[in-house]
Amino acid sequence: MSQTGSTALVVDFGAQYAQLIARRVREAHVYSEIVQHTISAAEIAERAPAAIILSGGPASVYEDSSMRLDPAIYELGIPILGICYGAQLMARDLGGTVTATGRGEYGRTELSLERSSTLLEAWPDKATVWMSHGDSITEPPPGSVSLASTPEAPVAAFADVERGRYAVQFHPEVLHTERGHDLLVTFLHDLAGIAPTWTNISIIETEVAKIRAQVGGNKVLCALSGGVDSAVAAAMVHKAVGDQLVCVFVDTGLMRANEGAQVEDTFRNQFHVELIHVKAADRFFDALAGVVDPERKRKIIGELFIRIFEEVARDLGAGSGDEGPKYLVQGTLYPDVIESGSGHAANIKSHHNVGGLPEDLDFELCEPLRALFKDEVRAVGEELGLPEHIVWRQPFPGPGLAVRIVGEVTPERAEILRNADAVVVDEIRKAGLYRELWQSFAVLPAVRTVGVMGDGRTYAYPIVIRAVTSDDAMTADWARLPYDLVETIANRLINEVDGVNRVALDVTSKPPGTIEWE
Ligand code: XMP
Repeated sequence: MSQTGSTALVVDFGAQYAQLIARRVREAHVYSEIVQHTISAAEIAERAPAAIILSGGPASVYEDSSMRLDPAIYELGIPILGICYGAQLMARDLGGTVTATGRGEYGRTELSLERSSTLLEAWPDKATVWMSHGDSITEPPPGSVSLASTPEAPVAAFADVERGRYAVQFHPEVLHTERGHDLLVTFLHDLAGIAPTWTNISIIETEVAKIRAQVGGNKVLCALSGGVDSAVAAAMVHKAVGDQLVCVFVDTGLMRANEGAQVEDTFRNQFHVELIHVKAADRFFDALAGVVDPERKRKIIGELFIRIFEEVARDLGAGSGDEGPKYLVQGTLYPDVIESGSGHAANIKSHHNVGGLPEDLDFELCEPLRALFKDEVRAVGEELGLPEHIVWRQPFPGPGLAVRIVGEVTPERAEILRNADAVVVDEIRKAGLYRELWQSFAVLPAVRTVGVMGDGRTYAYPIVIRAVTSDDAMTADWARLPYDLVETIANRLINEVDGVNRVALDVTSKPPGTIEWE
């Protein structure tokens, strides 16, 4: 979705700083894209961005000769903002001085303004900023003036207004930097002159137009999983091409409580989408009988899912001529695109999507969320009228409850776990923690322990409460749930869920644990 003339390119110098900057630029209603630092001036000129931002990075301008920028980029006449490492690189490349003073700054730091400037307009004389640097800029490049300093950074910001070059040693993208958002807004809107047109509504308009142009009058198929991404993608496609969209929801018997009913209610009753609800629980349980190995479970579920989806697609006429669906909707997001583009193959979400269909079905992919970050997907979902419980739903693995039952998956265990999960989620919601937590759910290790209830001895399953905080699922911390809440959940699990007589709390972070148990 190139927005020539109104895009800010964020040049990535590693360590994931670029993604956060790109998100913050979008929050300033400017479309952003991430590019690698190896990009040439010619390539940038061809993309014709309205601004360039150089990200921070883990390297030192002295040590790592690989983390360079094509110097011709500075001469393109495109307004440029260097951040942290990017600022030092600009200082050095443009003739200033960067010194290894041996006294870095990490964390909250006080910034003192030295002169008035548009870049730091309306900043107080002293402001809190977030720093993370070892080397310091000691001389700004010729033609630039120093704007501010901190105790260990003599030049914490500099500007060459004439040539549209700006640099800050601190991190404006980090919320601890008091005026960080203002600084990005000033750079993008005032100094680079970009109109703030990137809004939920403009995203929807752009995507709808693209989908219409792509699919024409053809039918489009979408597998709904109950999750946010496929739901928002489907709603977008529906807005674009109405009843050319056909959705398929395969109930594997391994979904969360009410998931199927909610999908039906939203898509069939509210959006009036043609929805094929395949109730396939028996087939999944049969295929999983006797299977204990996590990877085999995943494989069996993935393959059966694809087989069922294929049956539905063929029934609808896919692969057989003019009338059948030719396009398949996928909820790919921008972080997946960046990750695969930069060679970091660890693409967790691709475990279980419907990319593996047989070739004779020959679908073309329709990926309306390819340019969006997760928070944008949610905002767009709300704008499209999807209900809160779908838009803000926590992630759920494709193989569903199967990877939360440690041991053989049986209908009985799935039912116990589904009921237990509903209790956990209900209490987490009541405590107002549902959106704050990355995930919160129940796990059922298929062992039984002895207990006593009333006058009788019980011999039943334990439930493990798993709740984590995370930004991206790559790392996670176990959530410090209030003890009272843990107690309420435990009491309800034992009293309300048949088959459960013990509750444990998982206090493992990732790493060393994973979020799911299998
Ligand atoms: P782990 O357990 O590896 O999970 O820490 C990281 C994130 O990915 C989700 N997850 C999956 N998602 N198919 C998916 O679509 C899968 O097979 C799968 N396994 C894990 C998990 O819920 C967490 O958000």
